[in-house]
Amino acid sequence: MTLSALGYIGVRSTKTSDWTHFATDLLGMQQVDAGGPVRAFRMDDRKQRLIVTGEGSEGLDFMGWEVASAGELDRLAGRLENAGVRVKSEATALADERHVARLISFPDPEGNRIEVFCGPDIAADPFRPGRQISGFKTGALGMGHAVLHARNVDVLLPFYRDLLGFHVTDYGLKPYKLYFFHLNGRHHSFAMVGSGRQGLHHFMVELLSLDDVGQGYDLAQEEDGRVAYTLGRHSNDHMMSYYMNSPSGFFVEYGWGARVINPATWQPHETFDGPSYWGHERLYMPEDSPDRERLKAMRLDAARRGLRANDPASNCAWLESVIGRE
Ligand SMILES: [Fe+2]
Repeated sequence: MTLSALGYIGVRSTKTSDWTHFATDLLGMQQVDAGGPVRAFRMDDRKQRLIVTGEGSEGLDFMGWEVASAGELDRLAGRLENAGVRVKSEATALADERHVARLISFPDPEGNRIEVFCGPDIAADPFRPGRQISGFKTGALGMGHAVLHARNVDVLLPFYRDLLGFHVTDYGLKPYKLYFFHLNGRHHSFAMVGSGRQGLHHFMVELLSLDDVGQGYDLAQEEDGRVAYTLGRHSNDHMMSYYMNSPSGFFVEYGWGARVINPATWQPHETFDGPSYWGHERLYMPEDSPDRERLKAMRLDAARRGLRANDPASNCAWLESVIGRE
């Protein structure tokens, strides 16, 4: 695998005070000095994970994908150039701004800006969360996942899968195409939803404790129109989460308890259930909208059939190994 994880996300937004409140008081990130109109936030020992530009129209500015070394970065740049992609080797000034050793950038076929980097800077001081949370599940799994709208999945799919090397985890084809991709043990670091639109659908951050999510949910419900999907559990990655409206027109998923897959043995497959075992009521959709009704019918069907995640909660290594073999 070339790309190893989602390293950072950049948001184009002038709503910097809204983002500061959202990222610190609700998400629990730590604001750090970034200079000028830029706002940057930490989630762990990295110097920054979320960057808000302070200018431009609202939406996704860039996704930052990580590779292990400068050699990997050069190999990827070569592969992209051979395929006709215009790759820019970014100057040191931008690498310094991103707190990485080196980075390249290029657009995907629908114009989303992709950055690939190596050598992230590690902060000298410990992460101090913006509210009292246990912390974020990052490390080798990366900062979380990003889900893009796709005008045309058939154009984006070969680019991300065949050129960039994202591995399909699972996919749904009806009523629209939905592809999930992994780079590491996280069930998906990236996904695309064939909504016919362009831009970011949501990004997800995972917490270390269910109580982080529950308390965040209470806080989010105190704010009018903040919760976009109610608490629920996804059927593919088993994430227990809710979604919030971010200040910039896309959602942020706040979750806990996703499964970790084994990329060496994982087989991509089509899914027919879900997207949720329960919950995830789409509050942002009109109550009688056909999509909201359809999703509700699907999860009630999952409830009737008793579909559920196998929770790794036995704390018994022997039982885990038996379940694993089966
Ligand atoms: Fe998600």
